[in-house]
Amino acid sequence: MANHGTRNRPSPNISISIHHPHELALPVLLAMAKALAPVLGHNGGGVIVNMLSVVSWYVYPFNATYCATKHAALAVTDGLRIQLKAQGTHVIGVYAGFIDTEMAAALSSGPKTSPQQVAEKTIHGIRAGLDHVLADERAESVWQAVRQDPAKLHAEMQARWDQHTASMTTKV
Ligand SMILES: NC(=O)c1ccc[n+]([C@@H]2O[C@H](COP(=O)([O-])OP(=O)(O)OC[C@H]3O[C@@H](n4cnc5c(N)ncnc54)[C@H](OP(=O)(O)O)[C@@H]3O)[C@@H](O)[C@H]2O)c1
Repeated sequence: MANHGTRNRPSPNISISIHHPHELALPVLLAMAKALAPVLGHNGGGVIVNMLSVVSWYVYPFNATYCATKHAALAVTDGLRIQLKAQGTHVIGVYAGFIDTEMAAALSSGPKTSPQQVAEKTIHGIRAGLDHVLADERAESVWQAVRQDPAKLHAEMQARWDQHTASMTTKV
């Protein structure tokens, strides 16, 4: 089972509303797992793949609500992995920076990973029995950054946000 659906709209300010597409993604993830886990267990275990993101690991302040949802989705993924192990279901999180899809078309003109690469890395991860699939270079570098020097990453985000708010103030 692959959980992949999310709608991404830029949403810097943390907002909690079940009507917001970001927050909707989490109940959908849980509902899918709840509905299909017994079926997978009955059929020998299987694999659940949850499409997460590098922002499952840190907060990009210009899209903080999306990050909050992806953090929560990571916690759900880790929890499901523990709870479903006994029935033989393996639960995998997949992480990437920007992927060349409709969602990223609206968000970034920078480098993007091909969906094909993400799919191939995911298949490899399933075959290799990985818990976490780092699907591109951005995922590899952020994975290292959050482990080696999270304070540095946080400071970088603070600087970008402060620069942004200063430029907005200047324009006013
Ligand atoms: N693109 C990126 O840069 C990037 C990077 C890292 C992680 N991701 C993650 O990768 C996953 C796929 O994103 P994408 O880039 O392929 O985005 P996308 O091109 O916008 O596609 C999102 C898909 O999710 C479906 N969807 C949205 N809300 C849904 C819901 N409530 N129930 C069922 N399906 C729903 C959409 O269906 P409709 O076509 O019917 O609207 C669409 O097929 C997401 O979880 C996203 O957070 C994306």
